[in-house]
Amino acid sequence: MKVVVIGGSGLIGSKLVPKLRAHGHEAVAASPRSGVDTVSGQGLAEALKGASAVVDVSNAPSWDDAAVLKFFETSTRNLLTYEAAAGVKHHVALSVVGTDRLSESGYFRAKIAQEKLIKESSIPYTIVQATQFFEFLKGLADISFNGKKVHLPPVLFQPMAADDVAAAVGRIAVSPPVNGTIEIGGPEQYRLDELVRRRLATLKDPREVVADPNALYSGAKISARTLIPGKNARLGETRFETWNTRSVAMAAGR
Ligand SMILES: NC(=O)c1ccc[n+]([C@@H]2O[C@H](COP(=O)([O-])OP(=O)(O)OC[C@H]3O[C@@H](n4cnc5c(N)ncnc54)[C@H](OP(=O)(O)O)[C@@H]3O)[C@@H](O)[C@H]2O)c1
Repeated sequence: MKVVVIGGSGLIGSKLVPKLRAHGHEAVAASPRSGVDTVSGQGLAEALKGASAVVDVSNAPSWDDAAVLKFFETSTRNLLTYEAAAGVKHHVALSVVGTDRLSESGYFRAKIAQEKLIKESSIPYTIVQATQFFEFLKGLADISFNGKKVHLPPVLFQPMAADDVAAAVGRIAVSPPVNGTIEIGGPEQYRLDELVRRRLATLKDPREVVADPNALYSGAKISARTLIPGKNARLGETRFETWNTRSVAMAAGR
């Protein structure tokens, strides 16, 4: 089956493409660096020719409120239009667990807009909402750093490995569309501030992490369970400790 991976050069896309190929599928990595731009539409018609499914694991280059909204709206509209013309039978998009509860955040308003366009389109679809990636823990510290300390709310958190995200999205891409949302998450729950503190310690990043009940998450006020998936979520296998240890060994070239 031909599967076009939009954002095929990104963190998830670059793991997803080889997994699909290993299962005998024709996976095409599409992104600006391979001449496919979903914002301008350049290269889309050619890339989508003969495709059965399109998986959108792209992300916006800028996370400013207006820029990210424009990216996800324009890109999703273009994709769905070109997919209809090419006869694509399944649109899969990667979103985030709790997106609908995070509308105070500009980034999440853009993900809400992306999901809405998909739900209203004529293309059969599956939206995959994942929890945060282990690989994003340092990025979370960066967006929560006020120049002195990292302020994070002490809420529940169930992140997962990018490898497990790619495996789950790959299985969903070659299955029939559910015309709904599937949640995926990690195997264990933590407290957000505690896990970011552990990751920074591993990275020997000296920034102090403060548990601050008033701290915002990506610009939004959140509560204990905002980031946690429901009971039907499909859970990845990789535990944080295993991933963290492996990441240190890989960084050291072992
Ligand atoms: N971070 C998290 O914890 C988390 C959790 C759940 C879900 N998600 C979702 O996961 C998705 C993927 O995230 P990621 O971290 O894998 O992304 P990433 O590593 O930042 O990769 C972004 C990809 O988007 C591509 N791209 C950018 N502009 C494009 C355009 N105009 N047309 C086509 N492709 C374009 C990039 O292509 P080039 O390399 O060619 O520029 C790159 O392949 C996002 O939608 C995000 O919302 C993230």
